[in-house]
Amino acid sequence: MRTELTFANLSGIKTELLAVLAVDIQTGKGPDARTEPVLLTSDPAVKAAVASVLTSGEYKAGANETLLLHAPAGLAAKRLLIVGVGKQAKATVHGVRNAAGTAVRFTKPRGIRELAFALPEPLDDSALLQPDLSARAAVEGAFVGDFDPDTYRSDRKDQSVQSFTLAGPAKADKKALEVAFAEGVVVGESQNFTRSLVNEPGNKLTPTIMGQRAAAMAAEVGLKAEVYSTEKLHELKMGAFWSVSQGSEEPPALIVLRYEPEGIKDGPVLGLVGKGITFDTGGISIKPSDNMEKMKYDMAGGAAMLGAMRAIALLKPKVRVIGIVCASENMPDGKAQKPGDVQTAMSGKTIEIINTDAEGRLVLADGLAYARQLGATHLIDAATLTGACVVALGMVNAGAFSNDEETYEKFQSALDVSGEKFWRLPLGEEYADMIKSDIGDIKNTGGRYGGAITAAEFLKVFAEETPWIHLDIAGMAWVEDSRPYIAKGPSGIAVRSILEWVRSY
Ligand code: BES
Ligand code: MN
Ligand code: ZN
Repeated sequence: MRTELTFANLSGIKTELLAVLAVDIQTGKGPDARTEPVLLTSDPAVKAAVASVLTSGEYKAGANETLLLHAPAGLAAKRLLIVGVGKQAKATVHGVRNAAGTAVRFTKPRGIRELAFALPEPLDDSALLQPDLSARAAVEGAFVGDFDPDTYRSDRKDQSVQSFTLAGPAKADKKALEVAFAEGVVVGESQNFTRSLVNEPGNKLTPTIMGQRAAAMAAEVGLKAEVYSTEKLHELKMGAFWSVSQGSEEPPALIVLRYEPEGIKDGPVLGLVGKGITFDTGGISIKPSDNMEKMKYDMAGGAAMLGAMRAIALLKPKVRVIGIVCASENMPDGKAQKPGDVQTAMSGKTIEIINTDAEGRLVLADGLAYARQLGATHLIDAATLTGACVVALGMVNAGAFSNDEETYEKFQSALDVSGEKFWRLPLGEEYADMIKSDIGDIKNTGGRYGGAITAAEFLKVFAEETPWIHLDIAGMAWVEDSRPYIAKGPSGIAVRSILEWVRSY
C-alpha cells in the first residue's frame, strides 16, 4: 500500500473515495436532549454535501457505522464515505485508528483501490484527538484494515488497497504530522509483518523457516541477526527449551536479533523474548483434535517480538534492544519428553514435567535466562501461554504480569499510545507455592485454578531479580470474528505496545 500525506483542500482531492469522520454529539438537556451526527471537518463543501443526509436521522455516527454518497455535489471525489466514531465525549485516536481500518475495508470488496482519508478536526480543544496521534493512528489503522489472511487461495484476487492518502488540514503543524505519519507507516507495516507470520500454517513456517524470515527482515532493516539450532541449545545447556524440541523431526531455532544504536554504550538493555511454537500438538499430553489447527498461531508471541524489532530498527530509539525468539514444534514422538521427566534449565533450576502441553513456559525459561546472560537489564516476554488466561479475560483483554512497579508503569503508559487492551493480573507467594515440585525445584503446571498466574510464576523464577513483564496473548492473538476494521485471523497484538514500551526508555 502506497501512502501519502497531503494538505490540499478536501473538496479538491481527486480520488475514488474520500472518507470523513463523524461523531455523535448530544445537544439540549432533559426532554430536549437530542443526539446528532456532526462531521469532524471544517471543509464547507464537504459539510454542504452531506447536510441533508445528516439531518435525516438515518445515520447515527455510531462507531464504525458507514454511509456512502456517490458523486457528492461540489467535491472532486467520486464517492464520499462517512465513518462514525461514536459519542463525541468518547472519541479517541483509537477510534480514529479503527475508523481508518473501516474505510479501507469498505473499499476492498467493492474493487476500489485508492482512497483519501480526512484527518479529523476535533470540535473542541480536548486532547483526545491530538492531530499527530490521530495521523499516526489513521495510517496504522489503514494498514491493519488492508490485511487479509487468504494468502493460499488459488483464485485469490488481490484486493489490497494501492494508495492511501491522509489529508491534513492546511492550518496543521505540517512537520509534526509528517513525523507522525511516517511512524504510522512503520508501525502498521510491522504489525502486518507479524500478522503474516502468525497466519502461516505449521507446514509453511517451521522453526527453521521462521529463523530465515527473521534473518531476512533483519537484513532489510539493519539489525544484527544470529539464528542457532540444536547444537547451540546443547552448548548453552538449554535443557528446558530442548525438552520441547527433542520430540520433533524439525530442529528448533534460537533467533537472536540485536538493535545497537550508535553511541549508546551504557544505560538499559531491553530483552524481548517471544514464544515461537510453530505448532503445538501438546506433545505426549496430546491436545484433543477439535480446534487443534489453531495451534499454528502458538508462535504469535515470537512473531510479535520480530514485528516490534522491525519497528525499533526503523524508528531508532536511543536504547539497546535484544530480541530473542525460541522457536520449536511441540510434537509427540518416540523421542518426545514424558510427564514425570525432570529437566535442567539453562539457569540450573530443575523442572518436573507434569504436562508436556505446558511447553511455552519451558522454551521461555531458557529464553529469559539467555537474555539475562546477554546483558538484558529489563525483560518483556510475549506468549500465547495459557487457555486459563482466555477463561479469565475472554477475547477482550490480554493478560499482563510484572515483578516491578516502575517497569510496569511504563508499559501501562505505552498502552495509552498503542490502544491495545492488557489487564494486569496478580502474582504472589501463594501462587508460587502451587508450582513447587516434590522431586525437583518446580513443576511446569500448577493445577486447574489460577492457570495463567501459575504460568507467570513459573516464568518469574527465570526472570530472577531482573525487572520483567509477561504478556499472555493466548486469547488475543487471533481475531475469531471479523470486525469492520480488521479481518478474521491474526491480530498482531502486542507489537505496538512493546514498541512504545521500548521507546519509553
Ligand atoms: N498454546 C497453549 C495455550 C493456548 C490456548 C494458546 C488457547 C492459544 C489458545 C499452551 O501451550 C497450552 O497448551 N497451555 C495449557 C497449559 C496447561 C497444560 C497447564 C493450557 O492452557 O491448557
Ligand atoms: Mn501447549
Ligand atoms: Zn503452546
